[in-house]
Amino acid sequence: MKILLIGASGYVGSAVAEHLEGAGHQVVELARPGDGESSRRRERRVGDLTDPRSLTSAVTADIDAVVNLATPTGDAEADANAVAALTDPLRGSGRAFVYTSGVWVLGATGPGPVDESSPTNPIPIVGYRPRIERQVLDTAEHGVRTSVIRPGIVHGRGGGIPALLVDLARKHGAPTFIGEESVRWPMVHIDDLADLFVAVVERAPAGTLWHGVCEPAVTVHDLVSAAGRAAGISARPQAWPLDEAREALGAPFADALALDQSVSGAAAREKLGWQPQRQGAVADLLDGSYR
Ligand SMILES: NC(=O)c1ccc[n+]([C@@H]2O[C@H](COP(=O)([O-])OP(=O)(O)OC[C@H]3O[C@@H](n4cnc5c(N)ncnc54)[C@H](OP(=O)(O)O)[C@@H]3O)[C@@H](O)[C@H]2O)c1
Repeated sequence: MKILLIGASGYVGSAVAEHLEGAGHQVVELARPGDGESSRRRERRVGDLTDPRSLTSAVTADIDAVVNLATPTGDAEADANAVAALTDPLRGSGRAFVYTSGVWVLGATGPGPVDESSPTNPIPIVGYRPRIERQVLDTAEHGVRTSVIRPGIVHGRGGGIPALLVDLARKHGAPTFIGEESVRWPMVHIDDLADLFVAVVERAPAGTLWHGVCEPAVTVHDLVSAAGRAAGISARPQAWPLDEAREALGAPFADALALDQSVSGAAAREKLGWQPQRQGAVADLLDGSYR
């Protein structure tokens, strides 16, 4: 398939691009105007989520699937318009459109693990995303093979939020958590997540939602302890008062890091044959890509 990828320069998008190519697909990048020259080996089109016309004109007849892995704009109307602009050219064609959301739309889950049938209860940082998810899934009625993927917290390749935990341990001289250390995060290895994107692009039915989660609930205590070891620090984990964390990281992001969740990724394993095989997040911090 020839696949238009929005967000190919990002943490997750660059891994997904590699895995799509590894599965024999051709990736076309949608880059923002004036973006760097680094990946010129791929075909590129110029566009921006805030410019719907640029998106529609990038979805030409030779594009078999569109994957949106870009960070949302922060403006609900702009993101809704972007989804419409990307899916309008696909209407009636049965071609695929994959939208990336995230497990934070579920809010605090209670004991869990919760699956894709669980209602959303988004925290402020992802406040309007359920509306965009609904728009994407409803577009299946117009002959587009739409899917939504909600990744857990992504680890691997030394990046993402776990890299922030390593930095915080260095900066504070101790492993640092926000809120309670019993808080749990659903985790996914970036290369396993990229495999899920390939599976969804290739064979997910229209109008389907998937949790991209390998480990449903890893405690922040275990994650920050391992991050401390990765930073060469053996002190006991310490709490970062929420008001200080909010000041440093911004309230929406700090609150998201204090969110307790347990989320199941079993449906993608059972229905799409997704087979996560990489190391877990704690092992990755201790002996893997964060050392
Ligand atoms: N990382 C995680 O743990 C995680 C977990 C759950 C969900 N997600 C979701 O996964 C998606 C990707 O996350 P990430 O961690 O890979 O983010 P990232 O590393 O910040 O990458 C974001 C990508 O979006 C592109 N982009 C940003 N604004 C754009 C715009 N207006 N128009 C076109 N492209 C734009 C960026 O391009 P430039 O190079 O031009 O900036 C970049 O390629 C996001 O929707 C995020 O919410 C991530």
